Amino acid sequence: MEIKVCVGSACHLKGSYDVIGEIQNYIKTNHLEKEIQLKASFCLGQCTKDVSIMIDNEIDSATKENVIEKIKKRVVNV
Ligand code: FES
Repeated sequence: MEIKVCVGSACHLKGSYDVIGEIQNYIKTNHLEKEIQLKASFCLGQCTKDVSIMIDNEIDSATKENVIEKIKKRVVNV
């Protein structure tokens, strides 16, 4: 699965790097380096929501508090 986190200016101000940090921790703790590719992305066109994320080409938005839940919901075996 590929996860992109927007690091455009609006999302950056809302805490992109905290969201990225959460995902990195999650990957590390659960040894999911092979299953999850984490990438940064430019503006995804949804600047008014929380930090924009894209999971396997599906746009969503998240905060550091709920991002892991959102990832888990999409992947049954991870
Ligand atoms: S800056 Fe993230 S969606 Fe625009």
